[in-house]
Amino acid sequence: MLKRRQMVRMLAGTAAVPVVMADGGDVWARGSAKGATVSDPLAFDPEKYTTVTTTITTDDGDKAVTYRFYKAITYVANPVDVAYQSLNVSVPMAIDGTSVDASHAPILFSNQVGGYMPSSTANAAGIGSGINPRLALAAGYVVAEPGARGRTLVDADGVYYGTAPAAIVDLKAAVRYLRHNKGRVPGDTDRIVATGISAGGALTALLGTSGDSPRYDSYLAELGAADASDAVFAAVPYCPIADLDHADMAYEWNWGANPLSTGEQVDQTVSKELRAQFTDYQASLKLHGKNGFGRITARNLDTYMVETFLQPSAEKYLTDLSDADRAAYLSANPWITWSGGKATFTWMDFLTHVGARRKNTPAFDAFDLSAFENNEFGIGTTAARHFTLYSLRKATGDASARLDADLPEKIDLMNPMYFLGLRNPGRARHWFVRTGTKDSDTSLTVVGNLATSLENLGADVNVALYWDGPHGANYDAPDLIAWIGKVTGCTK
Ligand code: DHB
Repeated sequence: MLKRRQMVRMLAGTAAVPVVMADGGDVWARGSAKGATVSDPLAFDPEKYTTVTTTITTDDGDKAVTYRFYKAITYVANPVDVAYQSLNVSVPMAIDGTSVDASHAPILFSNQVGGYMPSSTANAAGIGSGINPRLALAAGYVVAEPGARGRTLVDADGVYYGTAPAAIVDLKAAVRYLRHNKGRVPGDTDRIVATGISAGGALTALLGTSGDSPRYDSYLAELGAADASDAVFAAVPYCPIADLDHADMAYEWNWGANPLSTGEQVDQTVSKELRAQFTDYQASLKLHGKNGFGRITARNLDTYMVETFLQPSAEKYLTDLSDADRAAYLSANPWITWSGGKATFTWMDFLTHVGARRKNTPAFDAFDLSAFENNEFGIGTTAARHFTLYSLRKATGDASARLDADLPEKIDLMNPMYFLGLRNPGRARHWFVRTGTKDSDTSLTVVGNLATSLENLGADVNVALYWDGPHGANYDAPDLIAWIGKVTGCTK
């Protein structure tokens, strides 16, 4: 018996053959009736590569890495736009002239999404320029770089076809493609490590929390995605712009009193109303802090953020400085007390140190619909919509306005915290989470709550903040590579 999804895929796949890249031709064993062979439009062709050599700078010096580059493979049978719904795979073959066997290596699944924009890897001549994919390749890992649809894509009729939940559906389809090709695609498809930055970090967190959730099934079936698991082994989000439906309230809780770069304060009425909403939200998460901290609430979260994330971040930074540089930093920052290798300071002094907030209020569901996220929740020929009741009602002046009926589901499908709330069983068990302490693109509580929720569910979480790091900082890529080796059991 074929499962419904397989049948949908076969039908969709047949219809889509002309637009699928010429990577088929293999035999699709699963789902073939009575021994008949059915051409699998989603079969990976191990012979279709070019060989590329590149120099990768590592802590151990420059390495000449020769790798097989599999380019622009369409990862769904029924694509909407092959420019975005395709991925590249890079497989190291030799490092400094010594051959490597990556056939069972971990697979770094590195999305390229920024700003919830469309991202395409289809025209790349080789592995991307990101430090994590390059160091992973030089460590002997396989690197998959998927594209995905994004919020600004519009067809000839003016219809938006890359808004929520398109990007996460595409990335899940790409994971399914790899797992469907277990044994054909180089690397261990049960050791996929997802990573991405910012919006790509949010999508990474979503891949890590929502693995195998049936809530995406209809979207995946429509694309002719492979009938395989989309759970990932580990997730490595950087500065995730996540928890969008609570991001405005969290932002005001965190940065409400910080000025804009012009020196002006944001509308304090709006800021305080949003901040007040955060109290209920934080309580609803029912999080427990480490080391006997107890229940985390909006009242003690400042202390928890300082003790758990910020002081350790400052300590690492200060410890790594030379004595002279540390003395200079501490004299320029007298609000930090440094004693016995420990840094102490208050939340308020930390906020003053960060200075200007990046965004006005509300930071994500802008009253004038101008934020990236308003566009991310567009639909049809409507470019941008409100996705919180607060902004919808304020902007329209209608105190009983309701969100469009399709939105609650889409908002959930974009929120990793939603899937943690469900204790989704397909979630990744290993996490490496990073953000910068000066990143006011979103609230620092987004990372704090994500990491703490994961810890409360028993996950293995390596979380750290980069002291004074801006949005997008990545200061410990070699540590990530070592961590991947450790958690995947890949020792070379
Ligand atoms: C990104 C940054 C933002 O401030 C945001 O709201 C969404 C995405 C980004 O850099 O990807």
